[in-house]
Amino acid sequence: MSRFIQVIVEDRDGQCHQQELSVGQSLMQQLCQADFDIEAVCGGCCSCATCHVLIDHQRVGPAESLEQALLSGTTDYHPAFSRLSCQITVDWDLHNQRIIIAQED
Ligand code: FES
Repeated sequence: MSRFIQVIVEDRDGQCHQQELSVGQSLMQQLCQADFDIEAVCGGCCSCATCHVLIDHQRVGPAESLEQALLSGTTDYHPAFSRLSCQITVDWDLHNQRIIIAQED
């Protein structure tokens, strides 16, 4: 079985990009490496919310309480879709899903 999945990433200009992701790796790190506009100021410590993405919670699960507190203070917050990409490890459930880079605060 392949170690890679395909997703659609929608950037802040609304452009959609087919993107290959490695299973088992951080979503935030892979989005950064692919030059999507993710600041990730805290480096993945769940303390900045600059890695905010919109993604179906049915696929990745809801945010934990600290993550939820950070997300709820962002301007592009959507309760059923907001997640911090540094808190997501890519797995098979994300295959063919759409990931939207949230607008900056
Ligand atoms: S990189 Fe800072 S919260 Fe994700």
